[in-house]
Amino acid sequence: MTQPRVVASVLGADYARLGEEVAELGDAGVARIQWDIMDGCFVPNVTFGPDVVGACRQYSQVPFEAHLMVRDPDPMLADFASAGCETIIVHVETAPHLHRTLSTIRDLGVQAGVAVNPSTPLDFARHVLDQLDQILIMTVNPGFGGQSYIAAMEDKISEAREMVDRSGFPVQIEVDGGISPDTARAASRAGAQLLVAGSAVLKHSEGKRAAVAEIQRAMASPVSSS
Ligand code: DX5
Repeated sequence: MTQPRVVASVLGADYARLGEEVAELGDAGVARIQWDIMDGCFVPNVTFGPDVVGACRQYSQVPFEAHLMVRDPDPMLADFASAGCETIIVHVETAPHLHRTLSTIRDLGVQAGVAVNPSTPLDFARHVLDQLDQILIMTVNPGFGGQSYIAAMEDKISEAREMVDRSGFPVQIEVDGGISPDTARAASRAGAQLLVAGSAVLKHSEGKRAAVAEIQRAMASPVSSS
């Protein structure tokens, strides 16, 4: 399995300096930059639309992924692809026609991911693994940054890992919510390959690059630093 990598969430960034924040995240050694798209319906918060994402595309060459925490993702898939997102992630809880949604995302020429909330089982994936590039396992209830990591999700992370490994399909396991050096170590040991971190990177006292390096070191070390 490849070395787990950090994905930076812009959710807690300084929105008055968003372009600069994206440039700094891109220079911090992250694998991707994640845009938490929230509509105030599926989750209580409201964030960015495709125009904001598109306006920031010029500030970094690091791949963008759109995490659609919205009640109805299908009508907006093309807009986020046009905005420059290389991956689009929809929530299984908002996709009654998931097979068609995933086909639509791939037909747009971008990678397709599915996110699951903490209480949602993985059963959906069994019949669409051939259409999936990644599964995003939420380790918080979606809507806000700065929440506590739900360690009980580690069983689900391992279950997803085992399911994907048995299938032989190249599906990456991503985790999002409350990721810090210690929780990143636990989640990567459970099988996660992409670790989405917002607060731990954006609010680090020594800056974004030091924060990312600390999380990467933690995932590479055999024991907890605490
Ligand atoms: C929740 C968001 C957050 C964000 C990361 O809906 O998805 O999890 O990406 O925020 P932190 O790292 O602060 O939990």
